[in-house]
Amino acid sequence: MAGPFYFAVATYVLMLAAFYWHRVRLFHIPVMVSVMLFDLLMPVYLVLTRDWQRRLLEEGDILSFGVWMHFGLIITLYVLYAIQVHTALGVLRPGDRDVAPLRRDHRAQGVGILLARALVIVTGAVLFEPVTDS
Ligand code: HEM
Repeated sequence: MAGPFYFAVATYVLMLAAFYWHRVRLFHIPVMVSVMLFDLLMPVYLVLTRDWQRRLLEEGDILSFGVWMHFGLIITLYVLYAIQVHTALGVLRPGDRDVAPLRRDHRAQGVGILLARALVIVTGAVLFEPVTDS
């Protein structure tokens, strides 16, 4: 089923909108938090609904370049998310810190996140295999 792929693309479009309308905090923050949760839960969903033992071990996909590239990009994305939340909290609660560098970092990392997430979706699509009953 290619459903998860189309759903991920839809969340990407939503993320682009939240990136563009970053000043509308009531839109930006809930969308970004939801997309992050979606990205954290998607691997759980796929592990529960796919026959990974057959795919990775029996068919030997675990040694394929594509799988490791996809995996590495996901880890990169999670690390970027953690740093992004950190700078976001800084922007929201700056204390006596200057908020300008935090915003600059948040924006620069945001561009990195858009790139990494696009690559995660593309490499995921390359690995896509239709689910069959047999
Ligand atoms: C937990 C997740 C996030 C929170 C809580 C958050 C929070 C914020 C806040 C409070 C601002 C300042 C808004 C303002 O101008 O008043 C902001 C700006 C921004 N955010 Fe986020 N954000 C999150 C995730 C992301 C992600 C994932 C991206 C990119 C994909 C992103 C991209 C941006 C950009 C480009 C700005 C504008 C920075 C600037 O130039 O001032 N944010 N965010």
